[in-house]
Amino acid sequence: MKTIVYFYSHKGSNRYLANKIAKDLNCEMEEIKPRLNAHLLMMMKVNFGNRKLKTRIEDYDRVILCGPIWMGKLIVPLKNFVKKNVTKINKLIFVTSCGSSFEGKDKKFGHNLVFNELKKISIGKCIHCEAFPITLVVPDEHKEDKSAFMKYHLNDETFKGEIIDVYNEFMQKINSI
Ligand SMILES: Cc1cc2nc3c(=O)[nH]c(=O)nc-3n(C[C@H](O)[C@H](O)[C@H](O)COP(=O)(O)O)c2cc1C
Repeated sequence: MKTIVYFYSHKGSNRYLANKIAKDLNCEMEEIKPRLNAHLLMMMKVNFGNRKLKTRIEDYDRVILCGPIWMGKLIVPLKNFVKKNVTKINKLIFVTSCGSSFEGKDKKFGHNLVFNELKKISIGKCIHCEAFPITLVVPDEHKEDKSAFMKYHLNDETFKGEIIDVYNEFMQKINSI
């Protein structure tokens, strides 16, 4: 099965996750680059689209899309990517390194809202969504700190413990669907 990972990352966690998945699947990877800084896009509520991709989406059986969640929404560069390319995508898998925990997935800023939004706009192409909450890598002594998810990022140092189990299960799952 020919797979490609597309990612957008602002602070590095989703870049790390995308890299890891692409390395483990031994597949290609490309960064989604918005024409204008994505934070500005969010604040100004304007949309100039993404830069042209180097790869041809239709050449792949499976697209893994990876990126953060902001304000309980599918961020503009990811939304642009899906809307523009949905007809060229065969199967879509969405993964996110996000701030919302598994317990908070259905709350106002939870990742489930974004999974539902993505499934709606990808018109039946999305076969799986997976969250890798940053809370999984926050040390026990900082778990009560509500802003801890902003201070921690995925990298070789933090990617250990519970998140590895979630990752291994995810890899098993996507290899069986
Ligand atoms: C402005 C802003 C808003 C955010 N809003 C949410 C949110 O609504 N839900 C959530 O789960 N995480 C939220 N987060 C956390 C990010 O999704 C998380 O830090 C993510 O790992 C960042 O990915 P990156 O390092 O690849 O940029 C937010 C982060 C920022 C900076």
